[in-house]
Amino acid sequence: MDVQWYPGHMTKAKRNMQEDCRLVDLIIELVDARVPLSSRNPDIDRLGQGKARLILMNKSDLADPDQSAAWKAWFEAKGYYAVLLDARAKNSMKTVHAKIEEACSKKRERDRSRGILNRPVRAMVVGIPNVGKSTFINTFAGRAAAKTGNRPGVTKGNQWIRLNKNVELLDTPGILWPKFEDPQVGLRLAAIGSINDNILDLTELCGFVTAFLQREKPQVLKERYKADPEGDVWKTLEQIAIARGCVGKGGEPDREKAARLFLDDFRDGRLGRITLEEAKT
Ligand code: G4P
Repeated sequence: MDVQWYPGHMTKAKRNMQEDCRLVDLIIELVDARVPLSSRNPDIDRLGQGKARLILMNKSDLADPDQSAAWKAWFEAKGYYAVLLDARAKNSMKTVHAKIEEACSKKRERDRSRGILNRPVRAMVVGIPNVGKSTFINTFAGRAAAKTGNRPGVTKGNQWIRLNKNVELLDTPGILWPKFEDPQVGLRLAAIGSINDNILDLTELCGFVTAFLQREKPQVLKERYKADPEGDVWKTLEQIAIARGCVGKGGEPDREKAARLFLDDFRDGRLGRITLEEAKT
């Protein structure tokens, strides 16, 4: 399956982001911890040149913890600051605040040497659709994110949310589009639900995830669906259909329905914490 997805308004969005990038000290980039590379758009490295960079590996509650730790180390070795995150969880925001301070310590020093004291760090959030940008902004900013305009610290329009005396956040996130040059990237993004299912062949997508599980986590197929952990993925899909009660009137397995249920199981974490992209060393 060749996933192609080029929204027409991409160029304009990119231009807006370029302008927004100029206004900030720090770029907070969200990636999906289950596919940390496929969920990035490398353009951001060019747009963010000279800025402090923080990568939030979001949805880490759904990703394999060992893989996440290895990916985090990989990002850090490349010079990014990185945090493993569940953007829905309020209690992880302390760590984010601490990392922002770390990432911006050079800017603070520069400010101090010029006699500027207590100027807040200006940050913007970027990431591909569905990676959790709005969730993160809401949790991070808490009450302040409500765009009422007349509460203390909140300005109207596309403006800054003052989080505390140290950080101001641009209230609209920058949307990046993933790159589909490698078809595997498209499949991984489809697997995590980042691409509208209506344009996908779900049985093929299910075959892609099943083949991955056969290779990396065969016990998952065996335990949850009593499915063959080896062999033909088409046959495995048939077994999944039977295990999930997806059979037609004549008793024939309904693979389409089974694929849908299987993908929901995977995306909602019912198959366990799974990372589809192995950490680089
Ligand atoms: P976006 O602004 O980047 O497009 O993403 P958004 O915040 O809307 O989040 C997309 C979905 O991901 C939301 O689910 C949200 O609850 C979920 N989500 C965000 N962060 C995390 C996380 O750290 N862990 C988990 N498990 N889920 C997270 P939703 O509203 O139910 O939408 P959908 O999943 O039905 O698309």
